[in-house]
Amino acid sequence: MTSTQKNGQFPAIRPRRNRKTLWSRNLHRENELTVHDLIWPLFVVDGQNISTPVSSLPGVNRYSIDLLLNQVARACEEGIPAIALFPQTPDELKTADGQEGINPDNLICRTVRQIKKEFPDIGVICDVALDPYTSHGQDGLVINDYVDNDSSVDVLVQQALVQAEAGCDILAPSDMMDGRIGAIRSALEDHGHVNTQIMSYAAKYCSSFYGPFRDAVGSTSTLAGAGKDSYQMDAANSDEALLEVAQDLAQGADSVIVKPGMPYLDIVQRVKSELKCPTFVYQVSGEYAMLQAAAQNGWLDGERVMMESLMAFKRAGADGIWTYYALDAAKKIRNTN
Ligand code: PBG
Repeated sequence: MTSTQKNGQFPAIRPRRNRKTLWSRNLHRENELTVHDLIWPLFVVDGQNISTPVSSLPGVNRYSIDLLLNQVARACEEGIPAIALFPQTPDELKTADGQEGINPDNLICRTVRQIKKEFPDIGVICDVALDPYTSHGQDGLVINDYVDNDSSVDVLVQQALVQAEAGCDILAPSDMMDGRIGAIRSALEDHGHVNTQIMSYAAKYCSSFYGPFRDAVGSTSTLAGAGKDSYQMDAANSDEALLEVAQDLAQGADSVIVKPGMPYLDIVQRVKSELKCPTFVYQVSGEYAMLQAAAQNGWLDGERVMMESLMAFKRAGADGIWTYYALDAAKKIRNTN
């Protein structure tokens, strides 16, 4: 060391020392991704023996209940803690008021009952929002060209109750109406579902990264280009996400979701570090589609970007991740350990 170099500087400090060997990199790793971090979204359709690929989500299929059960079995084998269910409702059942969403025998409720019967030990999450059931594709009721808040909340409460009744473990309201968490929580209390969890999509941005999901559930055509800007958050805002999360926690949410994921890592970090609550992140359909498309073209190493993107969520502070990669990531984690 020359006289001009002091302690605390190169070459005393050589960060590469810790990176030289695999054992040392393993030892110094600050964050770990485990199978327990993963939530697997699955799409369900009516019928028998159906498995249809979603073209904008390479590797993702819609399954009828009989075949979906095989996927749930795979999730259980890998130790994935929870799956999240989304229905593709036949167009003839879609109405302006989304009544099929509160039918206790709708596709989602039948799926939940079947899964809970055959696989009681995996967590089942249901989406609370009307978009799979409305003829206009909006998450709530439309009055005078506006998605009306309070009347939508009344329907969402009924939807939450039929799902809880069917045996759903975690309700995940993704509708972004104001006050819905409090209304759902008090209805659950009134009906004896005191342990039904609510994982709120609290900071849900109005994002174009949801495109492939809307193809999967069939709401791209019903929405017909209309936006969700009057209820989902403006991509330019960050403080507002903290207000949304604080509100939902105060109203009885057990955990919250930031969505989308990778373009909103700053929000994940702020929610976790400032509000210190159970924080989840949704790696949404468009994020998955981008990575898969590039991987299919040989432009990216699919497996490595999968693991890198998931690790980024852990580093930002997420306690868990909704991802279409859940099964593949679980296998990769098992094979690496
Ligand atoms: C429905 C809902 C959406 C997603 C989850 N629940 C789409 C939307 O709000 O239009 C998006 C999931 C994804 O893109 O993977 N309210």
